[in-house]
Amino acid sequence: MSRFQDKVAIVTGAAGGIGLATAKRLASEGARLVLVDLDEARVQAMLPAVLQCGAPEAMAAGCDVSQELQVEATVNAAMSRFGRLDAVVNNAGLMTFKPLQEFSGADWNAVLGVDLLGAFFFIKNAFRHMKPGGAIVNISSIHALQTEALVAPYAAAKAAMLSLTRSAAIEGKELGIRTNAILPGAIETPMLRNNPQVKSGVEHLSASDVGKPEDIAAVVAYLASDDAAFVQGACLTVDGGRLAGL
Ligand SMILES: NC(=O)c1ccc[n+]([C@@H]2O[C@H](COP(=O)([O-])OP(=O)(O)OC[C@H]3O[C@@H](n4cnc5c(N)ncnc54)[C@H](O)[C@@H]3O)[C@@H](O)[C@H]2O)c1
Repeated sequence: MSRFQDKVAIVTGAAGGIGLATAKRLASEGARLVLVDLDEARVQAMLPAVLQCGAPEAMAAGCDVSQELQVEATVNAAMSRFGRLDAVVNNAGLMTFKPLQEFSGADWNAVLGVDLLGAFFFIKNAFRHMKPGGAIVNISSIHALQTEALVAPYAAAKAAMLSLTRSAAIEGKELGIRTNAILPGAIETPMLRNNPQVKSGVEHLSASDVGKPEDIAAVVAYLASDDAAFVQGACLTVDGGRLAGL
């Protein structure tokens, strides 16, 4: 399949986990890739693997997605290098853990800055450059729907991301740009295993509850492709059925 031949995609949080799997999947379908991450050295080091998957070209950019000017500079650099932008995957994420009464306003701002504003800044800049046919995929979480103790700002940011998805879908429609969201369940990445609720067993996970980064990457590729041409403003849970049961 080469659904992304001649197309250019930006993936944030691409140094590992779901972001790297997504970059590799889009590369395997012919996309030229812009890999974005806070950890510039680590994301640079991923370039050979992404090229090996089939991307005709790829570049890496160090960028803190919570900083509007850095996002603008990153999108401008992608446009200068490739001259077009077809897909943006807002995947960079930050999860912090504290009891509600110990979280500060600064803690909240840090999480909202990455998980919500980071996506907004990329959508804003993508809208300036994308031609009709462009697609944005926001990586939210099942925490947008049901959550647990110690993660209040993360759950709030991921829920707000669904609202942002609907706003971008409505306003993008007249530009021919689609915006959709994925709500992953538990996915085998460092973020999952660093969660103290998972480590302690408070959040109980059976093996069948845990998916692979590639399971999400496949759905991102669908939503970013023309196969999803009539999918606009959708919020798709991809959790192996975990939330479906009582
Ligand atoms: N793993 C899961 O179980 C799970 C479940 C639901 C949703 N998600 C979401 O999927 C996305 C990817 O998570 P993952 O599990 O692959 O985690 P991960 O920790 O492996 O990857 C997150 C990436 O984001 C980058 N990042 C963090 N802050 C950044 C910033 N300010 N600017 C740019 N990059 C930044 C990190 O450096 C890292 O490479 C996140 O948005 C996460 O909330 C993950």
